Amino acid sequence: MTRVSFIRVTPLTFYLLVLTLYGSLMTLTSLTPKPTEPSTTHTTHYQDHDPLTLLSDRAKRSVDNNKYVCMDSDVALNPSNCTIYSFGIGYDVTFDDQMSYFGCELHMFDPTINQSRLMSVLQPRQHFYHLGLDATTYNKTFVWRNEAEGDDLPDDIVVGDFDTWDHIRAHLHHQNTPVHYLKIDIEGYEWRILEELGSKGRLAGVQQLAIELHTSVIINYPEEKVLEILMWFWRKLEVLHRQGFLRAAYQPTLVEESMYTVPGNTSYRIPTCFELLYLRRGPVY
Ligand SMILES: *[C@@H]1O[C@H](CO)[C@@H](O)[C@H](O)[C@H]1NC(C)=O
Ligand SMILES: *[C@@H]1O[C@H](CO)[C@@H](O)[C@H](O)[C@H]1NC(C)=O
Ligand SMILES: *[C@@H]1O[C@H](CO)[C@@H](O)[C@H](O)[C@H]1NC(C)=O
Ligand SMILES: *[C@@H]1O[C@H](CO)[C@@H](O)[C@H](O)[C@H]1NC(C)=O
Repeated sequence: MTRVSFIRVTPLTFYLLVLTLYGSLMTLTSLTPKPTEPSTTHTTHYQDHDPLTLLSDRAKRSVDNNKYVCMDSDVALNPSNCTIYSFGIGYDVTFDDQMSYFGCELHMFDPTINQSRLMSVLQPRQHFYHLGLDATTYNKTFVWRNEAEGDDLPDDIVVGDFDTWDHIRAHLHHQNTPVHYLKIDIEGYEWRILEELGSKGRLAGVQQLAIELHTSVIINYPEEKVLEILMWFWRKLEVLHRQGFLRAAYQPTLVEESMYTVPGNTSYRIPTCFELLYLRRGPVY
């Protein structure tokens, strides 16, 4: 019997904390190296820390992809008028399901998965696109190892298309549609798109931005270069600050191989992958 590993939960607690899982369970082999490739192969749990692990058996194994959604009145999502873009799905649709139960229109993007496995289980108000977000347009081949996820299925060899924010918006005929919640979990590609996203009002309407940041490249950098690259990351994030976004929540992804050991002190270890929730408050933008 074949089994496709979707994670699906009933419409319970749709806000507060929604958890999905993407990088932690899969062995995603990209055929060409990514510049800031985080470690996505088998993860060792550093610590069990998830308050919502009761949602599903699979989620118990998840160490990343908890998504916070802020329900303060000035930024709350309106169930009768909310559009969500969710970049980076894997086969975990938990976040997307919760938000569609809530009433939001979900636009889900992932170029690395076999889309026919996902299309058949889409919920109302969910739309899937076999597209990835990047700074340029190209395609790329991915090998998805189902076996690594415990599925009795052969590997999926998938050609995924990457495109720019502007092209994706045009493709969806969304040039004038505000995105109320933007989720970006794209395994290191975020550094390539922040600049574009932060310019020319592209994030108009976005009041909540949940982004997983990957800085694990520092683990293999010479010690004297680490500060330089961290400053480079920081400057990239300033694009968001200039657009009025403020950090509201930080949650580290505590995975053994993404921990950075501070030189000279082996007990001082810091996570290099983490989730941030940014909010842009008030009526402007
Ligand atoms: C939905 O919300 C946006 C603001 O985010 C607003 O411009 C638009 O008019 C609203 N649409 C409806 C149908 O209320
Ligand atoms: C991938 O892109 C190349 C050009 O870069 C194109 O020739 C090819 O048809 C594309 N493949 C797919 C499957 O879209
Ligand atoms: C994608 O999944 C379908 C089953 O849903 C399977 O028949 C097909 O071979 C898979 N495609 C690839 C490219 O692996
Ligand atoms: C090493 O790091 C730990 C954890 O941050 C800290 O408590 C300790 O004081 C550090 N030791 C030295 C010698 O700096």
